[in-house]
Amino acid sequence: MGDHKIERPDLGGPFPENIAIIMDGNGRWAQKRKLRRVLGHREGIASVREITTECASMGVTSLTLYAFSVENWKRPSPEVRFLMKLLTEFMVEERPTLMENDVQLRCIGRLDDLPADALRELRETEELTRGNGGMRLRLALSYGSRTELGDAVRRMCTDAVSGGLDPESIDEDSIRAYLYDPETPDPDLLIRTAGEMRISNFLLWQISYSELFVSDVCWPEFRRKELMEAIACYARRVRKFGGLVSDVPPDRSTERTA
Ligand code: FPP
Repeated sequence: MGDHKIERPDLGGPFPENIAIIMDGNGRWAQKRKLRRVLGHREGIASVREITTECASMGVTSLTLYAFSVENWKRPSPEVRFLMKLLTEFMVEERPTLMENDVQLRCIGRLDDLPADALRELRETEELTRGNGGMRLRLALSYGSRTELGDAVRRMCTDAVSGGLDPESIDEDSIRAYLYDPETPDPDLLIRTAGEMRISNFLLWQISYSELFVSDVCWPEFRRKELMEAIACYARRVRKFGGLVSDVPPDRSTERTA
């Protein structure tokens, strides 16, 4: 465990305890610079490091990063191989930073799809950081929300057939219990970089009431300044979770959300 200090900015409104990010635009960042796409992924690691460290230092509870989707296996095999190599290196090289910042790593997705060496290093880093009590960094790897829901339904049916689950008792809480990581709270804020207005099969169950923030900046350029913009924007939102807010401050009345 490190001796890092937590300093939470006061932005005059609520702070997003749980943040999720769709890290998009690595390829475009590289192409704009006439570089190979994979160099955008490499530069993206520097953003992962900076955003993880910044979030940990602000006392964020969980940061979930969409690092590789189930659909990403369709990319050309040299790009997939490069990403798996980056992931394996990341798992080894980031260990000191994770420990210094008291960060606990947890991965979600169909992790058995990953190459054996990546999976081995990942499990070792999860094990090493298990006792860290600061921020939880969740990496979504070979992750797809429809796959997660399909996996959950299959396990629920198996338990129902064996008598371990009463179909009549199924409610939101019991469905959640079958998701990959039921303990981590739902994201308060979902950020997407590189300007696209879509969710791309990410945490569909968990983001039901998340606030969305889309940044035009490509992921390799998304750093502290851009993160603070997203957090400041969140602080001005009014969350109602489908209910009513009778006392919305006048200066925030234009930002009422459903
Ligand atoms: C989207 O950019 C990004 C990805 C598919 C992978 C994200 C991976 C990283 C940031 C690096 C690896 C991370 C870890 C934690 C090991 P894109 O290629 O779709 O960009 P484009 O839309 O501009 O083509």
